[in-house]
Amino acid sequence: VIFEDSNEGSIQVAREISDLIRKKQALGENCVLGLATGSSPIKVYEELVRMHREEGLSFSNVITFNLDEYLPMDKSNMQSYYYFMHEHLFNHIDIPAESINIPDGSLPQEEVVDFCLAYEKKIKDNGGLDFQLLGIGRTGHIGFNEPGSHFNSGTRVITLDHITRVDAAPAFLGIDNVPRKAITMGIATVRNAKRIVLLGWGDNKAKIIKQTIEGKISSQVPATYLQEHDNVTFVLDKGAGGEL
Ligand code: GLP
Repeated sequence: VIFEDSNEGSIQVAREISDLIRKKQALGENCVLGLATGSSPIKVYEELVRMHREEGLSFSNVITFNLDEYLPMDKSNMQSYYYFMHEHLFNHIDIPAESINIPDGSLPQEEVVDFCLAYEKKIKDNGGLDFQLLGIGRTGHIGFNEPGSHFNSGTRVITLDHITRVDAAPAFLGIDNVPRKAITMGIATVRNAKRIVLLGWGDNKAKIIKQTIEGKISSQVPATYLQEHDNVTFVLDKGAGGEL
């Protein structure tokens, strides 16, 4: 779906998420959301916060799993996705602290593998992801599933692509400060979500969006795996949809 601008698209996506939360509330069920970081989802989170403040939208039945986190990364670090999520969403809504799950980039190396397996299991134990929000990186990554990621991959440690580190460099005040690794949900983790929405804003995403939607399915552009999902929507602005 191509919207006039990112504002309109974000409001539409926030509405879909709030409808799902309310529907689950009415059924007395939890709503399990997979959440993304980066600039793309910021307006969606802003709108959800507004709905909480002005329309009484409650997140008391919501359980969240974030896609990824840099490794190593301290929670208190302003570049952490932990910090990002609290700043843009969690600090402003009534979600119980124990319902928030974000990959832990501060673990000692020997504990990371077990953490990844437990993260994957926790998603399953909660009934799987009802809704997964995604952005897309210039390499075609979703979460931090860089080119070469396997179709059946689960939550694991990944080495970041050079292009990804270049894109992250401004936020870290130089590429040398960008971590070389990350923990990310896998392609299979994302694929198992019942509903997926990928956000793409601006001309600089036009090329990778075209490859993702119209290109051949390939591990070289991991986002192309989404073509095989039966309930995915790409929500774009005119810039990002410009080459379709
Ligand atoms: C990072 C995140 C991705 C995100 C991508 C795009 O690499 N790990 O989840 O989709 O950036 O970021 P942006 O939305 O800022 O373009």
